[in-house]
Amino acid sequence: MSKYLEERVTHVRHWTDTLFSFRTTRDPSFRFRNGEFTMIGLEVEGRPLVRAYSVVSANYDEELEFFSIKVPDGPLTSRLQHLKVGDPILVGRKPTGTLVLDNLLPGRNLYLLGTGTGLAPFLSIIKDPEAYERFEKVVLVHGCRQVNELAYGETITETLPKDELLGEMISAGLIYYPTVTREPFRNRGRITDLMASGKLFEDIGLPAMNRDDDRFMLCGSPDMIRDTRQLLVDGGYEEGNHGEAGHFVIEKAFAEK
Ligand code: A2P
Repeated sequence: MSKYLEERVTHVRHWTDTLFSFRTTRDPSFRFRNGEFTMIGLEVEGRPLVRAYSVVSANYDEELEFFSIKVPDGPLTSRLQHLKVGDPILVGRKPTGTLVLDNLLPGRNLYLLGTGTGLAPFLSIIKDPEAYERFEKVVLVHGCRQVNELAYGETITETLPKDELLGEMISAGLIYYPTVTREPFRNRGRITDLMASGKLFEDIGLPAMNRDDDRFMLCGSPDMIRDTRQLLVDGGYEEGNHGEAGHFVIEKAFAEK
């Protein structure tokens, strides 16, 4: 049996010159936990050309959604960015990843810290009722260079709170904090700086970060992961994984070099 399911593209949305997302059909046998990633890609010259992508959709959604950068000379994304409805796409049968609720110790506030396409796994998690059952507040922080890179902002602030089943839970439990580093916006600055200065917590009206109450999931560039991880380790927070739950978990965002 092939390692990949062959799905079809059902929808494509281009956010900017460098960001797009798309949806595909979902084989009923494809199961995943919210926050996980799987290998996806295209068949090129008879061989699978695949990369790890977080699933944007929730595990109960009928279709699969992915959020991608476009790298002009990237082996996969230079091709993927031309996807059209009806095109075939390979989806790995074995999703995995550390950004799952079970890898975190119980707590009061769940902070989802993503930069760029590192937002992707958190879009799945904010649609998971379990996130709101386990935590009083779910804080989604999305850091980008520019305002137009804050993809999915409207879905988060307009669509999700009106969701028939989850709307009430999301309206009461979710705090969305987009922040931009390279042009004017209502929230400015790197996630690390906003945490270190305490401004993030002041702005959203929650107490200063503390190990008893706060849990973190990080997804971004290697630099972002390194610096945010250091900040947490310095504060005495312990990293979790499949073996042992911790105060925080990390995953590198997809980057095609
Ligand atoms: P900055 O504009 O100051 O570099 P990128 O597109 O490079 O992945 O960056 C996405 C966002 O992550 C940008 O806002 C960028 O800020 C920020 N960023 C980059 N490196 C770090 C880091 N080491 N810690 C925190 N945020 C970072």
